Amino acid sequence: MKKLVKKIGVITSGGDAPGMNAAIRSVVRTCAFYNVTCVGFNRGYAGIIEGDYQIMDARSVRGIINKGGTILKTARSKAFRTVEGRKKANQKLQEIGIDSLVVIGGDGSFTGALILNQEFNFPVMGIPGTIDNDIFGTTHTIGYDTALNTVVEVIDKIRDTASSHNRLFFVEVMGRDVGHIALNAGVAGGAEEILIPEEDLGLDRLLESLKRSKKSGRSSSIVVVSEGDKIGKNVFELKDYVEKNMTEYEVRVSVLGHMQRGGSPSCFDRVLASRMGVKAVESLLDGKTNYMVGLKNDIIQLTPLNQAIKGKSEINMELLRVSDIMTT
Ligand code: F6P
Repeated sequence: MKKLVKKIGVITSGGDAPGMNAAIRSVVRTCAFYNVTCVGFNRGYAGIIEGDYQIMDARSVRGIINKGGTILKTARSKAFRTVEGRKKANQKLQEIGIDSLVVIGGDGSFTGALILNQEFNFPVMGIPGTIDNDIFGTTHTIGYDTALNTVVEVIDKIRDTASSHNRLFFVEVMGRDVGHIALNAGVAGGAEEILIPEEDLGLDRLLESLKRSKKSGRSSSIVVVSEGDKIGKNVFELKDYVEKNMTEYEVRVSVLGHMQRGGSPSCFDRVLASRMGVKAVESLLDGKTNYMVGLKNDIIQLTPLNQAIKGKSEINMELLRVSDIMTT
């Protein structure tokens, strides 16, 4: 017999991502559509443990679809990593009368949700919100498209100054331990080389490629480096290494950092977040738990949470081939 779901909690957890507010808005409005109370907890799992929450009605999320960040704030809760902390969280959820929880975040946040279910049988549903796009079970996580557009815009700007000074730039981008942002933004930005964790180019091949570029008449170059790249040197060491071994270039470094996490979400991310929020709430109302909503072949589908957590988000090999050809 399906338990009647009358009150749904929602949190944002882990690194923030543009589009999280659109997802919150969709969860809240879908709850309102089905006459279900929606409770927003602040600062992720920490807010649940501390009972830091507010009731959210359809009006409480007006004017946020275009805002980056998350109105519910986010955090990585150390307390929730302890059994004690999770016990407190479950007690608080029961006390407030929450029937199910929507967790908007990445794999770390989903791991917490799964443990909450395993230890207390609490119904949970995941919405993938991270700029890294490193979650199995969806071709796109919320925030990824916006981050790509931000990075491409910056690469275009860096190219102006690189070409004015005949310089080589190493541009480091986020992505933790996957190269989706570097590969896609690198191809779109016309980067001469792209260094990603999934493919170890090696220092010699990098030098050869840069020398070939120079010989072919390129007066400036941009090398996009994923922060998780495994070439063995960080971008500053790469600068020193190339300057030492390639006197033709003046070399500079640009580490893009947290700006990639900000900005108004793209149309794609707003629509994706709106679709995912509806699916997440309707799945909980349907008595489902321990799933993540994801986009596959442009259809919003459910993936078991443990698969989303354990699975690997593979790099697009066809795009890797495109990037090799484009950097000829
Ligand atoms: O997971 C999103 C992300 O931006 C990664 O790309 C990056 O490595 C990490 O978060 C940075 O974490 P923090 O915001 O805690 O510095």
